[in-house]
Amino acid sequence: MRRIAFLGSGDLAVDLCERVRLWNQYEVAGLIDGSIEKGTLVNGISVLGNDDDVISLYNEGAFDCIYIAIGYLNFQVREKLYNRFKGVVPLANIISPTSYVHPTARLGEGIQLSDGVYIAQHAVIEDNVLITLQSVVNHGNHIKKHTFFSTGVIPAGNVTIGERCFVGVGVVISDGVTVCDDVWLSPGAIVVADINKPGQYMSAASRLVNVK
Ligand SMILES: CC(C)(COP(=O)(O)OP(=O)(O)OC[C@H]1O[C@@H](n2cnc3c(N)ncnc32)[C@H](O)[C@@H]1OP(=O)(O)O)[C@@H](O)C(=O)NCCC(=O)NCCS
Repeated sequence: MRRIAFLGSGDLAVDLCERVRLWNQYEVAGLIDGSIEKGTLVNGISVLGNDDDVISLYNEGAFDCIYIAIGYLNFQVREKLYNRFKGVVPLANIISPTSYVHPTARLGEGIQLSDGVYIAQHAVIEDNVLITLQSVVNHGNHIKKHTFFSTGVIPAGNVTIGERCFVGVGVVISDGVTVCDDVWLSPGAIVVADINKPGQYMSAASRLVNVK
């Protein structure tokens, strides 16, 4: 079984350690985090070193692949680590056995598909993308590098989402829409036209209209 090291030691890394073991997908070699002393145990998992140690640890055979376990609050760090290690150390894909990937879909490297994710025909998911619980990547969708789908996202067909986008819980996107790089779609946003300007977008929040 391939041995994986996680870059990061936060909730995402700890959660993924449990999942890959549960799914019998990887053996967990350890965590990489410069803010914690080497040898410290985080949830029983050993910190192997910092980012500067990754290549030498890999060359020494400490692990076979890495996964960038940095969440949506740190897109710059996710991208920086990706640029540093892509093509140097293999980037692992973490794919839940309860996700579905259509045979015509194309998946990049260093991606995660959580439980219940559905990847439809001719979808393209570029490197370092994270699709969380029960989200859909619909037919002909193109999800560009580093982007993060939260839970229950529903794009229609032929949607393109740019790099480093955050797509909040329950976002709905209409057919054929293109969203540019560096867009933050707030939970529940409904996107019906192209977004060409980076920034944070929200649809109307629920408001009290009647008291029963
Ligand atoms: C959108 C987000 C950044 C707002 O955070 P914030 O800046 O602290 O916003 P606040 O709670 O101070 O609200 C500011 C205003 O935006 C409104 N608002 C906040 N979230 C909203 C949403 N999702 N849709 C519509 N309006 C929203 C608030 O009602 C408030 O309006 P008001 O000024 O008229 O009262 C934050 O809610 C968000 O995206 N969180 C991520 C949640 C998520 O999807 N997590 C996924 C984990 S997998």
